[in-house]
Amino acid sequence: MNRNFTKYAYTDSVRDAQEQYGSRRGNASMEKSGDRFELTPREIPFIESRDSFFMATVGENDWPYMQHRGGPPGFLKVINETTLAMADYRGNRQYISVGNINASGRVALFLIDYPSRNRLKIWAEAEVLESSENPEMFAAASDPEYGAVVERLMVFTVKAFDWNCQQHITPRFTHEQIRQGLAQLATE
Ligand SMILES: Cc1cc2nc3c(=O)[nH]c(=O)nc-3n(C[C@H](O)[C@H](O)[C@H](O)COP(=O)(O)O)c2cc1C
Repeated sequence: MNRNFTKYAYTDSVRDAQEQYGSRRGNASMEKSGDRFELTPREIPFIESRDSFFMATVGENDWPYMQHRGGPPGFLKVINETTLAMADYRGNRQYISVGNINASGRVALFLIDYPSRNRLKIWAEAEVLESSENPEMFAAASDPEYGAVVERLMVFTVKAFDWNCQQHITPRFTHEQIRQGLAQLATE
């Protein structure tokens, strides 16, 4: 089902490419299949269980930029069906994503779960907030047990999303998932 993403992803040149390579008709019907973009019970637990994701921003010079973000599982908080928030910890102090968000107000998020071979793309409007600008959301997004200094908050207003197919995702497991699997085997 179309989760509104064709509105943002299917530009004129994308439609031209679909025409050139013979997939325009199928993609045109996808454009008509609705504009729902609220996160559902399928996306919400998926987002809340991620311990990392990739975030694309765009600079004022039109160059795309990609950064990996990581934290304790659930560090990307679902505030409601159209709002996500993340505490931005002190890092390498380059502030590339922060500057890009301040300039363009847009991000694309890419969330992947290797064991279940699922991947979710999210298009969102984004803003960077200082703690004083929204203390409640700042508190909701911060994890006091995570030993890092929270510098600011990134808030994402979901505009569209889409699940990709599972092809070519190699299952991979974290140390913790392997440890749990081995413990279960030992019990059995
Ligand atoms: C000591 C240290 C700890 C960091 N911890 C994290 C972290 O837990 N999660 C994360 O996404 N980035 C972390 N990074 C931050 C990244 O290096 C980077 O600052 C941040 O992703 C913003 O990058 P950008 O300027 O390329 O957008 C850390 C960096 C340093 C130097």
